[in-house]
Amino acid sequence: MDALIEAALQARENAHAPYSKFKVGAALEDETGRIHTGCNVENATYGLTICAERVAVFKAVSESARKFRRIAVAADTDALTPPCGACRQILWEFCGDIEVILANPRGKTETLRLRDLFPRPFDASYL
Ligand code: THU
Repeated sequence: MDALIEAALQARENAHAPYSKFKVGAALEDETGRIHTGCNVENATYGLTICAERVAVFKAVSESARKFRRIAVAADTDALTPPCGACRQILWEFCGDIEVILANPRGKTETLRLRDLFPRPFDASYL
């Protein structure tokens, strides 16, 4: 299996999701091949919850990574789980039209482009 998908599945095990019980893992590959992982981290106030994808992006950026090739997102659903709207906006900001791989623990995968998940994005080009 692709090491990026394995990393997302592994990161999913660290999810802090006592409220939704919905565990998500993400693995973001930078231009050097380094993998930055994330999991969803929920909070008792619910609204402060942060998704796995954003944790992965913010961890990577905070460690000076700036260019990215691919992200894998893993959840235990038969209909593969895509990034939420907020995560699509953050992914566009830092990764542009990145390859997005959706996966589940039973080996089902699908590869998409962020452009197709997030058409006509608002970004710095409008400022
Ligand atoms: N979640 C993610 O981490 N990523 C997604 O792509 C979809 C949703 C999390 C947020 C929350 O902790 C739980 O899944 C249920 O929405």
